[in-house]
This record gives sequence, C-alpha cells and structure tokens, in this order.
Amino acid sequence: MSSPEIEIYQNSGELGLRLAELTVEILGQAIDQKGSASIALAGGSTPQAAYRLLASDDFRELIEWSKVEWFFGDERFVPVNDDRSNEKMARECILGPLGVSEERIHGMVRTEDAVTSAKLYEELLSEKLGNGWFDLVLVGIGDDGHTLSLFPGETIPSGNVAATKAPVVATERITLTPGPVCNSSLVILAAAGAAKAIPLADALYGEEDWLRVPSQSVIRHATSLVILCDQAAAAKLTKNEIPLE
Ligand code: 6PG
Repeated sequence: MSSPEIEIYQNSGELGLRLAELTVEILGQAIDQKGSASIALAGGSTPQAAYRLLASDDFRELIEWSKVEWFFGDERFVPVNDDRSNEKMARECILGPLGVSEERIHGMVRTEDAVTSAKLYEELLSEKLGNGWFDLVLVGIGDDGHTLSLFPGETIPSGNVAATKAPVVATERITLTPGPVCNSSLVILAAAGAAKAIPLADALYGEEDWLRVPSQSVIRHATSLVILCDQAAAAKLTKNEIPLE
C-alpha cells in the first residue's frame, strides 16, 4: 500500500472541480484500456458538486458514459424515492442528467431486507466485476471518522458487502467492506469543512484502531488512494497533531 497522495484546495468548489476532473481521467483511462469502466459512488453532500459538474456541458462530452457501470459504496436502507437515499441523490445529480440507462445503474436496495440485499449485491458484483473490483471508488469521511457506512463502535463486517447500523440519518445501511474498496484500482476520498480536520488527521496519523476510526481501514490500506480536501479539512494535516480524546 503506497502512501496516499493528498491534494489541498482553497475551497469546496475547487475540490469539486478536481474531483470531477480526476473521475473523468480515471474512467476515461479504463475505457481506453478495456472498453468499459466501473465506479462506486459516495453518498453524502461532499461529492454532489462534482456529480453535477460531470453531468454539465463542460464534462458530459469528455468520455463515453455509455461504457460506465455505476455502483454505490454504501446506501441508506430506505426506498430509492426517499430523500435520504444515496441512489436518489446520484440519480438527481448525475445519473439522470447524463441519461444513464437503467441496466447500468446498480443500486444496493434490492429486497425488503438489508441482509438479503447485501448478499444479492455481493453476487451482483461478482457477476459484473468478475474477480476484479472497481476502477474507481469515491468515498467520504464523517465527522465521527466513519467512511462508507462503517461506523465507530461497530466491528468491521466480513464479506465484501454487509448490512450495518448507523447512529445517524438512516440507521439501517448497506456498505462495501474495506476489501473491495482497498483492492480497487483507485480510491478517492473527498473531505471538505473544518469538521473533517480531526477525523481526517486521526485516520491518517492516529493510533490504528478500526473500532474507533473505521476510515483507517480504507485510508491506511487502499492499494491506491488520493485524498482531496479543502483547506479547512486539511487544517490538522500540516501540524500532524491529533488531539486524541
Ligand atoms: C453516507 C456516505 C457517508 C459520507 C460521509 C461524509 O451514506 O452518508 O456514504 O460515508 O461519505 O458521511 O458525508 P458528507 O459528504 O455529507 O460530509
């Protein structure tokens, strides 16, 4: 595992632009090399500006979107028309505006039960990706040090896709586990805002304890990781100090 590349931007707008540029670069390379590309999208608010940019006139002609298969890194286990759904957000911000066909959108909510949906998603990944994983995985980091839907106090689940519990928003979740993410070609972690400064520094430099800081399971072990952050989120990186509680 190589050390992550860390890019710091003036503000979240510049971060979003870079995230869109790097996403196009990576997916375009995959399409050039093998005729297709696979991406697992992050939920939450940070990536939304980049998603909208990717569907804008400045980006929509840059790659053959019809060659991209769209997956999710994690999902709130709610109906896809629920405002808390990551799939709903992605459809509104990028998948709908790009006109992505249904057969290339692979949502995580597949039955009435989270555990069964997780099992079915694991089977889908095996069918769609074979023995490999994603060309690109986008993730965020929570104020509490979570990533994907791997939350503090919860043991990292086994398998490649799991049903987990969250303390916020929607308590039932489905998530990729660290294995598929860390073994993908590239992970991009995007973090913006002062509330991410301590968890990001803790994830990078703090004592390794996945129960306390689940994002360490990705940040410390991804085969290839780029961290994109704004200055506020990078505030603790320069001093390399983390006030451990
Ligand atoms: C989710 C996300 C989650 C997110 C972080 C950061 O389902 O909420 O996948 O892991 O990436 O909570 O969220 P923000 O970008 O909103 O800060």
